[in-house]
Amino acid sequence: MQLVTTSAKRGNSTLKTIAISIKAHLLKYYCSIFVYKGKETLKVPFMLKRIPHSDLVIIEGEKKTKDYLKMQKAMGKFYLNDFFAKFDIINSNGRFLEVGPGTGYQTVLVSEKYKPKEIIGLEYSSDMVKVATKYTEQKKLTDRIKYIVGSVENSDLVLSLGKFDIIYSTFSLHHWTDPKTGIKNLYNALDDNGVLFIYDFHREGLFYYINIKRGVWESIRASYTEEEIIKLLSELSIQNYIIRKKSLYLDFIVIKN
Ligand SMILES: C[S@@+](CC[C@H](N)C(=O)[O-])C[C@H]1O[C@@H](n2cnc3c(N)ncnc32)[C@H](O)[C@@H]1O
Repeated sequence: MQLVTTSAKRGNSTLKTIAISIKAHLLKYYCSIFVYKGKETLKVPFMLKRIPHSDLVIIEGEKKTKDYLKMQKAMGKFYLNDFFAKFDIINSNGRFLEVGPGTGYQTVLVSEKYKPKEIIGLEYSSDMVKVATKYTEQKKLTDRIKYIVGSVENSDLVLSLGKFDIIYSTFSLHHWTDPKTGIKNLYNALDDNGVLFIYDFHREGLFYYINIKRGVWESIRASYTEEEIIKLLSELSIQNYIIRKKSLYLDFIVIKN
């Protein structure tokens, strides 16, 4: 299958940048003065510089991970329809790898909807894996879903997991310390005609300037722009991809052939 590569629209940049900057500053002050007065805020750099997450292992500890399951369910309402619309297109019922499954909420949904032979969830946080394992037991899917504690950047580990028909990940890419190695490892783990589907935020637009330290806003500032993803894929000599931005989200699909 041949995919069309979309390139970033660069357009009439100077005027556009000035207009966006003015709007962004107005929004920033509106948010910090009126809406989020009193909440934890930070000074947001002007030029959309990437700001990595302040903590590497984002969620650990029993209480935090349980709370995250509630949050993951709530967040699902905002993106899962869009995520599954894409998944419907790439679907296969072979072997899947999910990177950064967190509490396993989405892993269970994918297993129930597409009934793949197996899903491996590769997750950095051991506490997340505990919650995910318990959740998967409750859903009686332990024969189809297994979790492994480890990092996508660990080439030997990813290699040891075998080949996959679909590798997918939501809202995890912006946490990886070395996304190039991560994506290279995943690309190598794809079977022929296998599909890599990465879904995340993107670091563009007015949302960057909402100067709240935590949550979605922190994730947006830690995520990548379309241009950065295109550069990264090109450095890996990956050409057969499609990339899309929609509201807060950016996703890309790579087919190995
Ligand atoms: C924001 S959570 C997203 C969880 C879930 N996919 C969702 O959509 O709600 C990011 C997850 O990626 C995991 N993660 C971060 N870096 C990772 C890495 N290098 N390898 C594997 N998992 C990682 C984190 O521990 C966390 O569970």
